[in-house]
Amino acid sequence: MDNKKIPVLDKSKWGWWRSAVLYQIYPKSFQDTNGDGLGDIPGIIAHLDYLQELGIDGIWLSPVYDSPQVDNGYDISDYRAIWPPLGTMEDMETLIREAGKRGITIIMDLVLNHSSDKHFWFQEALKGRDNPYHDYYVWADGTPDAPPNDMRASFGGSAWEWVPELGQYYFHQFAVGQPDLNWENPKVRRELYDMIRFWVDKGVGGFRLDVIDQIAKEPFRKITKNGPRLHEFVRELSREAFIEEGLVTVGETWGVTVDQAKLYSAPDASELSMVFQFDHICVDREPGGLWGSRPFSLPALKRVMEHWQKGLYGTGWNSLFLENHDLPRIVSRWGDEGQYRVQSAKMLATMLHGMAGTPYIYQGEELGMTNPPLTLEEIVDVGAINDYQERLAEGWSPEQAMRYLHAWCRDNARTPMQWTAGENAGFSTAKPWLPVDPNHTRVNAQAALADPDSVFYHYKKLIALRKGLNVFRDGTFTLLEPEDEKLFVYTRDTDREHLLVVCNFTADAVAWQRPAAFVDAELLLSNYGAPQAALRPYEAQMFYLEDREA
Ligand code: GLC
Ligand code: CA
Repeated sequence: MDNKKIPVLDKSKWGWWRSAVLYQIYPKSFQDTNGDGLGDIPGIIAHLDYLQELGIDGIWLSPVYDSPQVDNGYDISDYRAIWPPLGTMEDMETLIREAGKRGITIIMDLVLNHSSDKHFWFQEALKGRDNPYHDYYVWADGTPDAPPNDMRASFGGSAWEWVPELGQYYFHQFAVGQPDLNWENPKVRRELYDMIRFWVDKGVGGFRLDVIDQIAKEPFRKITKNGPRLHEFVRELSREAFIEEGLVTVGETWGVTVDQAKLYSAPDASELSMVFQFDHICVDREPGGLWGSRPFSLPALKRVMEHWQKGLYGTGWNSLFLENHDLPRIVSRWGDEGQYRVQSAKMLATMLHGMAGTPYIYQGEELGMTNPPLTLEEIVDVGAINDYQERLAEGWSPEQAMRYLHAWCRDNARTPMQWTAGENAGFSTAKPWLPVDPNHTRVNAQAALADPDSVFYHYKKLIALRKGLNVFRDGTFTLLEPEDEKLFVYTRDTDREHLLVVCNFTADAVAWQRPAAFVDAELLLSNYGAPQAALRPYEAQMFYLEDREA
C-alpha cells in the first residue's frame, strides 16, 4: 500500500466516521495568536495544514462557548457565543470553513448535563420559585444544615448547594458553578435541541456529548449514571437534533456496559454514532478506587480490549483512545518516558489503531508528549486541587499527594502544545496559562516534521492505512496469547484480508514466532524496520495478507 496518498472519505454517506481518525483539540493549550498566553481559535486555524498533513478527518473541539471557566469551559454561560479570549463567532465560522476545505469536520463538545451558574437560565431561576426558568434545574426544599441526602459532587463536597434566598438546594454533579439541568422538563430539552440546530446550521459536522450518561439523573433516588429515562432521552435528542445526515455523535459514558453501548451506538442510528467507554483506561484502578490503586497488568488490558472489540462487533461501534484532556499522557503511563519514548509511543499507537472503532488522537499524542513536571502552585485544575486536598485529609503526606498528582492529574494533558524548541515551545509569545514542559526542546512538532522516523509520521501511516484497507474497519478481532505478560498480539480478519499486530509492552527483548499463516505476509508498519528473531524493546509490527483469487 502506498502510504503517501491518503484517501479522502466520502462524508455524505452515513457511517463515514467508521473509517475516520479524529483529533481532539483543547483550545486553551493549542496555539496562542494574540500574545495573552491562552490558545485561541485563530491558533487552530493556523495549524490546519499541520492537521491535514497528519491526515485526520475531524476535530473534536473541547468547549469554546462563553464560560466563567470554573471547569475550563465545561461550565457554559452562553451556548450560542464564543468565550471572548478564544476569539469571535466569525473566527469560529472561519474555522469551520477552512477545516472543511481540508476535508476536516468540526465536532463540537456539547455539555448538556449542566450549565454554568452564570447562565441566564440559572440567573433567572434564582429569582424565585415561580420564575419560568426555575424548573430548568433540579431543586430540593430543606434547611441549611440538612441537604436532601449525602450525595457527593465529582469535584468534592456535597452535590447539593444551598440558596438562602429561595430556601432551596440545587443539585450539581460537578462543581458548585455547574448546576445540573433538569432533563425531565421538556422545555429544557427543546432549548437544547434548538441550540444544537444553531450549530448544525453553521456547518458543524458532529458533537461529542459530555457525560451524556448522567443527564437522566434522579437524585432523590441517588441515581446519577444510566437513569431509567436515559435512552428515551438520547433517542429523542437524536431524532430532534441530529437528524442531519452524516452527523457524527460520540457520547462520553464512564462505566457503560457492552449491552448499554449497543443501544447508544446501534447501527440503526437511533441514538449516537459511538461511545467513549473507559474500561481499558481504568485497568490500573480498583472499581471506584483511586487511579493507580491496582498495578497495570497487560493480560487485564487485553481482556478488556477483547471484551469490547468482540462485544460491539456488528452491533455497535467503539471509540479508540488512550488520552484525552482528563487523562495523563499514555507514554508516561504505559510506555517509557526515557530511552524508549519514541518506540513506546509508536507501539501504543499501533496497538490501538489496529483495532475496530474510530481512533481519537489527543493533541500532542502524535508527538509522544509526556507528563510535565508541574508544581502544586502551577496546577490549576479544580479536580486536581480537590484531589490533593482529599488525599491530605485521608492522611497522605504532601509528598505522597504530589506524587499522585504528577501521575494522574488532568493538567498533565493540558500543558501547551509543543510546536518548536524555542521560547514557550512556539505556543505563545507570553507566559502560557500553564507552563510548557521543558522537554519541548526535544519533543516538538517542528522536530517531528523534519524527522521521517518521528512519532508523527508513524501516526500518519496508521491513519492512511485505516482509510486504505477495509480490514481496519470491518475485520473481526481475535486475541492471541491472552495470558502473555509482555506481548499484545491480535489478528483482524475479513473474508479476504488479514491483519496481524504484535506489540512488545516491555523494555526487554522478547522471543516471538510469527503465526504460520502470516509467514508470507507483508510488513505494513513497524517502529524498528525489518523484523529480527526477537522483538526489541517496545517493538510493534503490523503484517497484512490478502487471499489470492482462487
Ligand atoms: C467531562 C469532561 C470533563 C469535565 C466534566 C464535567 O468528564 O471531559 O473535563 O470536567 O465532564 O463537565
Ligand atoms: Ca490567545
